[in-house]
Amino acid sequence: MCGIIARIGGDDDRAVDELLTGLENLEYRGYDSAGLAIKNGGGPEVFKRQGEISHLKDALADEVPDGGLGIGHTRWSTHGPPSDANAHPHTDCTGEVAVVHNGIIENYDELKADLQSRGHDFESDTDTEVIPHLVEEQLAEGVDPETAFRETIEKLSGSYAVAMITKHDHAVYATRRGSPLVLGVDDGEYFLASDVPAFLDFTDDVIYLDDGDVVVAKPDGHRISTTAGETVERSVQTVEWDPEDAGKGGYDHYMLKEIHEQPAALRQTLRGRADPATGDIHLEDFPAGAFEDVDRVQFVACGTSYHAGLVGAQFLSDGGVPAQAFLASEYATAQPPVDEETLVIGVTQSGETADTLSALRRANASGARTLAVTNVVGSTAARECDDALFIRAGPEIGVAATKTFSSQVVSLALLGERIVRDVTGGRTDDARERLQALSDLPGHVQQILDYTSARRVAENYRDSEAYFFIGRGAVRPVALEGALKFKEISYEHAEGFAAGELKHGPLALVTPETPVFAVFTGRNDEKTLGNVKEAEARGAPVVAVASDGQESVHQYADEVLTIPDTHPDVAGVLANVQLQLLSYHAADLLDRAIDKPRNLAKSVTVE
Ligand code: F6R
Repeated sequence: MCGIIARIGGDDDRAVDELLTGLENLEYRGYDSAGLAIKNGGGPEVFKRQGEISHLKDALADEVPDGGLGIGHTRWSTHGPPSDANAHPHTDCTGEVAVVHNGIIENYDELKADLQSRGHDFESDTDTEVIPHLVEEQLAEGVDPETAFRETIEKLSGSYAVAMITKHDHAVYATRRGSPLVLGVDDGEYFLASDVPAFLDFTDDVIYLDDGDVVVAKPDGHRISTTAGETVERSVQTVEWDPEDAGKGGYDHYMLKEIHEQPAALRQTLRGRADPATGDIHLEDFPAGAFEDVDRVQFVACGTSYHAGLVGAQFLSDGGVPAQAFLASEYATAQPPVDEETLVIGVTQSGETADTLSALRRANASGARTLAVTNVVGSTAARECDDALFIRAGPEIGVAATKTFSSQVVSLALLGERIVRDVTGGRTDDARERLQALSDLPGHVQQILDYTSARRVAENYRDSEAYFFIGRGAVRPVALEGALKFKEISYEHAEGFAAGELKHGPLALVTPETPVFAVFTGRNDEKTLGNVKEAEARGAPVVAVASDGQESVHQYADEVLTIPDTHPDVAGVLANVQLQLLSYHAADLLDRAIDKPRNLAKSVTVE
């Protein structure tokens, strides 16, 4: 997830100031690097820097270019680490075309190879850079910029929002497919951006664009058309957000916004990586055979990421590969044996957690192969490990991890499938069904977001003494994660247990004042139901997280948080979304500091 902005004005020279304001408002979408290109008489002038927007401002301090029209970008790396060269805007060989892009161009490898074979030199590792070069080729054939832009986007596959300026006219060309783009309308000026907050300081009149819309915006007017070139009318809507809250996109908290971003985040995580029809997996740096030398896998991680690691270990064990998950802080002090056939996977959203880095360094020093599963390209974990797999969830601002957990689990399911195939020489028994269920996840999560009754459940149990979460097998980690989230943001006492362990001690705590939240997946449900009955016999109210089809569960539970029917290995992601919402609403009813819970930090860089 990156942020793009364009400002389309006449000769008023305000473009740089307004683009910088827009970039600051979009920084939550990425902060690896920032850049802008200004149309100033001749060709676009480009300024870009690795790091925060303040670095770009420093670069501009000596020479603020004049100009009323320009494009800007704040980057969250997907291809290539953060660097000045990888920062947007990207240009062609002539420097006459400048482009900013958000999303992923899936066929960039082949487009780049073709362009290189025709003599184009590339300066970055990004997928984006193919776009200005393709436009350059079109312009060289004598077509106008709009035609060049249209011809180019026809060649792209993947998801993107793109904005372009050229030396040849005073206009911004933009389009979207699968990535957000909105048009802000004011008197004599326009804005294009990934998100409304980018230009809310200047206008609150907005046109929401549809996938496939192509916009040509000039100071004296705009035209929106389909990819086929047919003009379409889109209505102008007035947004009523307070600019201060706009970064939250109209949600009261970043956490709630990020919970709601999960369908989009999961689509990004999955994009181009799994084909349920054939059962094929395409994980960028990990072709078939990448793990054939591995004979066991160890996951190291902390907190929520550890829970994702537990799920990852379960996938592998089920597929016949010996795997275990370790708390990174423990691993660093009491490391299990490793050798060069051991693959140690560090699961870390930030890529900067000291305990996880320490465990990975220790594994590395002992000869193991290390792999980081992280959200941050260029993070310490990604740089120090032998390999990295990026979860592509986009930046997460709320301290409590939500969308990154879902994207971690999906990434680990795909990675797990690759490892099982390489190590055992076969696929998991139900690979296609599981890939189909993963592909269905974005839609299924959306159904939960649309129909959840989590707030009512949170209200019903708001004055309880403690909250217990239970699950078995693949959803034991979900029970642990449900309790972690709940205690972290509500400050109420919450504990997660393996369902079968309740009777070995924790049952002593169970009373009518302690609701038990039980997670069901369609596998081992009878046993978990037995544990639910043990709790009910002590008077505890039971809230099940289960699908409509699990009738016996509905019969015993006092309340059910419903999830769509899916593969048992994937149901945990859905159940977890319901539990995220439960925690959020419980904390909101108690008026807690949800985005910044007391005593906690987003990235824990001490051991
Ligand atoms: C809980 C939470 C933490 C992190 C943990 C590891 O909501 O966010 O438990 O999961 O601090 O952080 P990363 O994934 O950055 O290594």
